[in-house]
Amino acid sequence: MPITAEQILAGAPAIATPELVRWVTDVASLTQPDAVYWCDGSVAERDRLYDEMVASGTFTKLNPALRPNSYLARSLPSDVARVESRTFICSENEADAGPTNNWAAPAEMRKTLAKVFHGSMRGRTMYVIPFSMGPLGGPISKLGIEISDSPYVVVNMRIMTRMGAAALQGIADGQYWVPAVHSVGYPLVDADGNARPDVAWPCNDDKYITHFPETREIWSYGSGYGGNALLGKKCYALRIASVLARDEGWLAEHMLILKITGPDGRVYHLTAAFPSACGKTNLAMLRPTIPGWKVETIGDDIAWMRPGADGRLYAINPEAGFFGVAPYTSLKTNPTALEALDHDTIFTNVALTDDGDVWWEGMTEDVPAHLIDWQGNDWTPESTTPAAHPNSRFTVRADQASSISPEWESPQGVPIDVILFGGRRASNVPLISQAYNWSHGVFVGATVSSEQTAAAEGAVGDLRRDPFAMLPFCGYNMADYWGHWLELGQTLGDKAPHIFQVNWFRKGSDGKFLWPGFGENSRAIEWALRRVNGEVYGHDAISGRIPNEGELNVEGLDITSEQLNELFALDPAAWQHEADLTEEYFKKFGDKVPQELWHELTWLRNRTNGVY
Ligand code: GTP
Ligand code: SPV
Ligand code: MN
Repeated sequence: MPITAEQILAGAPAIATPELVRWVTDVASLTQPDAVYWCDGSVAERDRLYDEMVASGTFTKLNPALRPNSYLARSLPSDVARVESRTFICSENEADAGPTNNWAAPAEMRKTLAKVFHGSMRGRTMYVIPFSMGPLGGPISKLGIEISDSPYVVVNMRIMTRMGAAALQGIADGQYWVPAVHSVGYPLVDADGNARPDVAWPCNDDKYITHFPETREIWSYGSGYGGNALLGKKCYALRIASVLARDEGWLAEHMLILKITGPDGRVYHLTAAFPSACGKTNLAMLRPTIPGWKVETIGDDIAWMRPGADGRLYAINPEAGFFGVAPYTSLKTNPTALEALDHDTIFTNVALTDDGDVWWEGMTEDVPAHLIDWQGNDWTPESTTPAAHPNSRFTVRADQASSISPEWESPQGVPIDVILFGGRRASNVPLISQAYNWSHGVFVGATVSSEQTAAAEGAVGDLRRDPFAMLPFCGYNMADYWGHWLELGQTLGDKAPHIFQVNWFRKGSDGKFLWPGFGENSRAIEWALRRVNGEVYGHDAISGRIPNEGELNVEGLDITSEQLNELFALDPAAWQHEADLTEEYFKKFGDKVPQELWHELTWLRNRTNGVY
């Protein structure tokens, strides 16, 4: 039987405000759950949900001798990643969503949502999940409440955010909060009262991941996976927060955050925007191969940044955990991440070993002789499908990484010295180059792209634009967002971070990566920091300032001078073609493209003609 308003009121925590109880009651009267449960974030609550999910078949408990307090979940093949085609920005005006977002009229979408959410939680428990993005009570942090019918979401949100009673107290104290409603869309009782059994991974083929930027609401239906369902992450911390940031003069970005200490003890902080699955987690846990440098992790996916009282830009990681790509995480590529996963980790869609541990492609050189794959089937090295889904992920608390910085929970954040932009570029884009100034940096961010590979649709060599790595995450018109970045540069003036473009993915004529990547990326970062200090100079080139011969530290690196030259080669004709593509791209945004970016395009073209 659906819970009644009286029962909801009776069960609400004493500190819940009338406004909050009303909202919870409204959502419950729409979705008709059997019970409402207010999450307190306690260990006892978590353990109870873990046990319930093991009993229901959603979780497999891993062998506690090998991986204590860790669990494996397997989703349906139809629910394995964010669905960008079903993600909507529902602004009043279509132009405010812009050409890179799916737009829907808010009134229309509300009608659709009222239909799909109607009775969508029948037979289930509705969880009320209060959470803080950023350290509780911090000046840059913000609160939210996710309502969800998925216990998987609850336990993941407990790792990924500061979830529970303290966040609810902040709301009771009158702090701002964002409402977010999530249903997997698999009711256990139909409108006629007929019951059906639950399944291990409930979801719905019909999916809506919707955002209302004007009223700052999130409604997500039909998926239980990742960014579709953990609404604090992409939906709040990027899409809604980017709108808040525009209005309040700050930045919400798809960026990792690092603390770096040089051999002389000097401390720097860096953020980097790379598209999804392009190496943020790896760089966030970098183990430098060059002596004397130390890297500590502050965040691996999202940065909220605000100008501080001293005029510099300060960043916090709004998340409390990592929801990282599992495949190819290994002792070679990311030992810090691998070690962090030793215990207290939720794995989704990786393979299960015969002794109750996890495995994925690239984890070890030896491939196990037998596994249960991510779909629950027997798997052997002869199998033609991957054992782990390519987008299989781990959920782990950030402070389980040995590289975590003591400042990672600093409420006022860390001052940013350097911002990196990067994508996967097989050609043209050099290992590192420095933007000439802030507006050139914004141009570089706006034109980030990755080359299409043969594995995906589209012609090989085609550029897939992913401006600021925010293509699927910007809650408003992308061209207005570029304008916001330019404006913030004015505010920061000469205290603005220095912007660099990096590319770990350039390939030689043999089709192989020219740069070893991973820990060796510290060499490019070292050059950037020495450049900021004025210890190296570089020289003007088409893409920006690039290292002079001998400036990039390649000591102990197995790389030929031909390879180095290839890494930094800049072909004027190829860059003229890039400029033509950029012009085409900018035109999609009509007259919203800031004039500064058109000027930057002209200056880029000039440089391809040798005019500086
Ligand atoms: P999201 O969590 O999806 O936002 O992505 P992310 O940017 O955190 O992705 P992640 O760090 O998990 O990227 C993983 C992929 O990048 C794997 O295929 C890695 O092998 C590859 N990768 C990471 N760093 C490097 C590098 O320095 N060189 C090369 N060639 N590949 C890298
Ligand atoms: C990404 O796709 O950029 C992610 C994973 O970080 S998800 O949270 O699923 O969006
Ligand atoms: Mn991401």
